[in-house]
Amino acid sequence: MSLKFDFSNLFEPNISGGLTDEDVKSVEEKVTSAVRNFVENTPDFAKLDRSWIDSVKSLEDWIINFDTVVVLGIGGSGLGNLALHYSLRPLNWNEMTREERNGYARVFVVDNVDPDLMSSVLDRIDPKTTLFNVISKSGSTAEVMATYSIARGILEAYGLDPREHILITTDPEKGFLRKLVKEEGFRSLEVPPGVGGRFSVLTPVGLLSAMAEGIDIDELHEGAKDAFEKSMKENILENPAAMIALTHYLYLNKGKSISVMMAYSNRMIYLMDWYRQLWAESLGKRYNLKGEEVFTGQTPVKALGATDQHSQIQLYNEGPNDKVITFLRVENFDREIVIPETGRAELSYLARKNLSELLLAEQTGTEEALRENNRPNMRVTFDRLTPYNVGQFFAYYEAATAFMGYLLEINPFDQPGVELGKKITFALMGREGYTYEIKER
Ligand code: PA5
Repeated sequence: MSLKFDFSNLFEPNISGGLTDEDVKSVEEKVTSAVRNFVENTPDFAKLDRSWIDSVKSLEDWIINFDTVVVLGIGGSGLGNLALHYSLRPLNWNEMTREERNGYARVFVVDNVDPDLMSSVLDRIDPKTTLFNVISKSGSTAEVMATYSIARGILEAYGLDPREHILITTDPEKGFLRKLVKEEGFRSLEVPPGVGGRFSVLTPVGLLSAMAEGIDIDELHEGAKDAFEKSMKENILENPAAMIALTHYLYLNKGKSISVMMAYSNRMIYLMDWYRQLWAESLGKRYNLKGEEVFTGQTPVKALGATDQHSQIQLYNEGPNDKVITFLRVENFDREIVIPETGRAELSYLARKNLSELLLAEQTGTEEALRENNRPNMRVTFDRLTPYNVGQFFAYYEAATAFMGYLLEINPFDQPGVELGKKITFALMGREGYTYEIKER
């Protein structure tokens, strides 16, 4: 079933100071033109090329041999894998036996060069039954080059052939990893050249590890396809992605510089991380398309319900009114626990209720309290966590990000602000051709 969107708490009269019909009219034409632009110049990420699934499936007979897949990638080359793993597999998937996993693989994602993280994964794997999926679109990201080198070293130390345990996902032509594929004969998948890292979850970047752990990748694409089609509707009221962009753009102009995503599901933690990267890296820009300095963007923040009600909600209700809050709500959980009767009258309001009923009541209560405090909020409801509606979620937010870029008149597909730090790191690590003097303190 499709995702449901409720935007009503972003508008007057539900909240005082909320968006009005006049506000909507002031940007409607520009939003429609963003949608038209999306239809006429459909970005490659929204084309959902069938070859992305086919190329991954062509490796299925090989992948099925592995007990474990370790993804080595960072940013857009790791967050989508994490989002898929956590939202569509049980939280204890990697602790289950192979039989309990119906023969599908465990999936670990090493998306940092933290030696404690890498060691904790290496401690839990047997290299003989492990596939390392090295993912880097550019094929040269330092963090991934380091984790690749470590994985390869371990395989060689075990006397294993790295070509039988490493799969490289990278640009079809360019970069060091592609050179490695050509010169050393590794199996490989392609990152479509026209799809940027943070928009690549539905390409082989996200699909391989998802298939390995038994996620239905066809269904994932079907959900995404439906959402991209809806994102092409000129009637904004039938176009959730356009509504997300329209409301967030208007609120940004009203000083709401923070976009909080608050999910009432632990399995959605990495979906929010995925969103954080998408919104931050795509929209946080110094220059607009005319080359003028604009320093624009909206800071994405994640929060987990009900946990963060005891950490963040005081601020959201009574602190600066500078946030737009998006709730993610799951109606039906895969597992359920009934709260037992304890014989104490003080706890009778909980007895025999489902744990999810309490969680959902907490979501409703928090949303209602924010509304009463005139804090704009919206809700995305998943009937349950399925590949179809997780695919929809990715697609809606990718389209909304493209629309926001259009409204802000910036390029949402580049990330020039990341380059300087990378260059300084290369210089500090002694890479040839890079120099930098750290300022004395
Ligand atoms: O969205 C992006 O382009 C970035 O976050 C990249 O995904 C990230 O920097 C990793 O790049 P690469 O895939 O080239 O290693």
